[in-house]
Amino acid sequence: MANDLASPDLFLPPPALIAELKRRSSELQMLPSVAIQAMRVTEKPDCSISEYSDVVEQDLKLMTDMLKLANSAMYSPVTPIVSLHRAVLRLGFAQCQNLILSASITSMMKRISLGQKAIREVLVKHGFITALLSTHLNQLFHFGFMGEEFTAGLIHDFGRTLLAITVPDQFLTFDTLEFDESKDLLKAERIAVGTDHCRLGAYYAVSQQLPEPLQEVVLFHHDPEMAHRFPKLTALVAVADHMANHLQRFHESSNYDPASNPFLPALAQYGNSKFNVQFAEISAALMDKAEHEAEAMLMS
Ligand SMILES: [Fe+2]
Ligand SMILES: [Fe+2]
Repeated sequence: MANDLASPDLFLPPPALIAELKRRSSELQMLPSVAIQAMRVTEKPDCSISEYSDVVEQDLKLMTDMLKLANSAMYSPVTPIVSLHRAVLRLGFAQCQNLILSASITSMMKRISLGQKAIREVLVKHGFITALLSTHLNQLFHFGFMGEEFTAGLIHDFGRTLLAITVPDQFLTFDTLEFDESKDLLKAERIAVGTDHCRLGAYYAVSQQLPEPLQEVVLFHHDPEMAHRFPKLTALVAVADHMANHLQRFHESSNYDPASNPFLPALAQYGNSKFNVQFAEISAALMDKAEHEAEAMLMS
């Protein structure tokens, strides 16, 4: 991925934007050091739960945030998960890795200082709705993801927040927050600042050494057919993003036409033979559910 981003491309983030991101690097540091340490520990083949817990417990906020997410609509456990030990036993290390990433991303998204608080709130909500829809679709259609779909949904549009941070005076002139994420939005971003939120977000994801599936989703969520390494995850988030945009644009789900989702065929190839019919039946209910859950997560 780093090579793809380094290849000649007219719309790579211009130096002024990169300099501004670097200037604010401490505020934009996504993973606290304990999170990085904990993720490294699980890469050891003989990693034990107590070794893992010892590392994570050094950062009480991270641990609390992980448990909060483990008990949220992300996993909806029948009985509450009350300790890190229980979380690992119940979910396993792979899902706990994604809990760490999601907890860190959520915490950073909520604390970022933006001139206009409303911009941050509406984009955080968009991340939550997309993440929750990705998770529900993954569970319903058995796509086999283990939490990375939530993390990817959460961060897919982080480039828009980065644009709001780096060019605050211009941001609302090209992104009116009307949730019409068509190619026109990307075009308007490129004309205004020389890059788009997908490329800026991907530059940042690479600089933060986020896992490669997340880098690819951020870069290609508007062009899932260009995702060659993680096409299923990218298509899933693209479908969820389209649903989230409809919800935030029209404030209702009953008028959602699944046939209007241009990314559905890309995802349908990974579903069962009844995928399109089932999707049409459940899409509105899923959207309502995700919106309520996202509101609860925003308040917590
Ligand atoms: Fe986007
Ligand atoms: Fe989006």
